[in-house]
Parts: sequence; C-alpha cells; structure tokens
Amino acid sequence: MNRRRFLKLGAVTGGAVALGGVGRMGGRAASAQSGAVPTVDRLVMTSVVDNFYDAFARGGKLDTITVQRTSLPAGRPLLAEHGLAYHFESVRATERREVLLDFGYRTLTLTHNYAVLRLEPTNADALIISHGHVDHFGGLPEFALVAQGRWKPGLTLYAGGEDTFCHRMVVNPMGVAQDYGQLDRAGLEGRGLKVMLAKQPAVVAGHAFTSGQIPRPTDFEQSPASARLIAGPVDSACSAAHFGATKVEVKPGELVVDTFQGEHATAYHVKDRGLVVITSCGHAGVINSTRQVQKASGIEKVHAIVGGFHLAPAPDEIVAKTVAALKNLNPDYIIPMHCTGINAISAIHREMPKRLVMPSTGTRVIFGA
Ligand SMILES: [Fe+2]
Repeated sequence: MNRRRFLKLGAVTGGAVALGGVGRMGGRAASAQSGAVPTVDRLVMTSVVDNFYDAFARGGKLDTITVQRTSLPAGRPLLAEHGLAYHFESVRATERREVLLDFGYRTLTLTHNYAVLRLEPTNADALIISHGHVDHFGGLPEFALVAQGRWKPGLTLYAGGEDTFCHRMVVNPMGVAQDYGQLDRAGLEGRGLKVMLAKQPAVVAGHAFTSGQIPRPTDFEQSPASARLIAGPVDSACSAAHFGATKVEVKPGELVVDTFQGEHATAYHVKDRGLVVITSCGHAGVINSTRQVQKASGIEKVHAIVGGFHLAPAPDEIVAKTVAALKNLNPDYIIPMHCTGINAISAIHREMPKRLVMPSTGTRVIFGA
C-alpha cells in the first residue's frame, strides 16, 4: 500500500470517520471571465475549530497539497465542538495576508485553540462570517471584546446579508424550537469592527474572495427543513423583506422558514492549482456554492472543496446525488468537515478515495507552492 493510500485510509479509520455592488472586485467593477479575482501563490488553511479532533490522524504530502496534523501538544490538547472556525494565511510574492473565517460555538474553544496552534488572531487583515448560526459566530462577540483596541485599524467583518444578524431557531421533528442565536451587529461595531454586507462577490484583504449570495439551481440541495428565523419589526433588518422569496405576510416575532439568503462561501484562487472553495455550513448547498464561486470568478478549475456540506441529516438519495455532482465538479481534493456527516464522508470515500482528506481540528493544509 503506498503512502498516499495509507494516509487516506488511516485517516478514515482513525477519524471515525456576476459581480457588482460591494462585489466590485478590488475596487473596480468586474465581470465573470474577467480574471478580476486575486490569485495567491500559496495558501495555508488551518482548521481552528471543528467537530472532530483525531490525535492520530496522519499527515503527509499528497500530489499537490501537504497535510499537517496537530497531534497532542503537551498538556494542551485541542478542543473540538459542534462548530467551525478557520485561519487562512496566503502569500503572493512578498505580500502576506491573514483572514479569519467563522468563530466556533464557544469563545473558550476558539481562544484555547488559537493559542495552542500559535495563531495570533489580532494579526487578521479581515474577518468573514459565513451565516448567522451560533456554531459559526458563537465565539466572536466575547472574543471581540477581548481583542478590542488590538485589531488592525478599520478591520472589516464580511457578512453575506442582513439576515446574518437575525435571530435563528431550529425546530426539531417533535416541533420543539431551540434557540440558535443572534449575532449582534451593533455590539461588534461597538468593539471597533466594520461590518460589510457583501451580497455580491467581494475581494477580501486583496487575496480571498466571497461568493456573494448563492443562487439555488440544483433541485436536490434544500435548506434544512428545521431552520427558522424570527421575524423582526416591519422595515427592520430582520423583517420578512430580507428573508428571500417569502411573500407571506409575517408578523414580528413569528417564525419564518430560513432560506439562508445571506449565506456566502469563501474562496481563494491558488496559482497553477485552481479554486479552493470553503462552504462553511453549506446550507445553500455545496454544489450551488461551488458553482457560484466558479461563476463569480470565471474560473472553472476547482482544486479543493472544503467545509461543512450539511449532509449529516440528509437521506441517502440526496447524499448520492450530491456526491455524484461533486464528482462532476472534478476537484482534486475534498475536505469534508463539521456538519458533512459520516454518511456523506463514507460515500465520498467510496466514490473518490484518492480525493478525500479527512478533517481533524488543528489540521493545516498547504495549497500551492
Ligand atoms: Fe454549522
């Protein structure tokens, strides 16, 4: 068994296995196929918080990426939780940028893991929040308080729409509603962060870009049936006017089906490799998200698809359709994290074993030169 195959199998068993508006790329209006998205020479992606932590996960060099694992730092094991947070370091020539995407569920987990991984979050050149669920923003408000005054001046948090800041609920099959949090925009601005609503694709820190809001052309990718928003006052940021296609009259305080209109994906274009697409929770669908990144950038080649694909609760039929569509997108690597689910990870392993890289908190993946 060669090393590459061994790494994959070992990881599986060990891990249980159209631009405009804010989307003016780099300050100038851009269009698809314009090549306006930035390219980086090298990208180091660190999963700061994820659902899994496998101290025995194997690292190594694959064909065009390097996977480094964080085993058991003496006395300070990494913490895993139902949540997601990333750190990105990108390099173009002599220019280096750091971007933080999502912030886990709890500040304790986030700050502990930043410290163990020797990451200094206040060096960030930009922040991105994928959507308004507490397992992605939960660590941020308290951390923003700690970091207040130490951020770089004018540090911007990119969100995909007003609804990122609306109150979320999840209703289980028994009809019981569970609070899924509300990110306080004014509170963050009070801590010195600038909030940018990037409804259209936007360049972030000159190196990364966001997808903008994501169209939903696939018929098999649906937002989770359990997700709800609490309607705010008429004409407020959380009024029904911002909830997408809903035309139903909704009174403030009522629960509305959540279509995640403001969810966006994050992406990099790595020189000689292609797109690295990070879906975060993927409520808009991993296929829809990747296609939107391709459309926004005008770049077809997908090097890697990373993130929560939110297939854990999905029936087998949807998993099969999604994995078939993933195969069609032909990425070199797939890194299924967070809410992807063992059902989907198993299917990816079965269909595309050579492309699967198992997730584990503290994993660093080096893309590019
Ligand atoms: Fe999530």
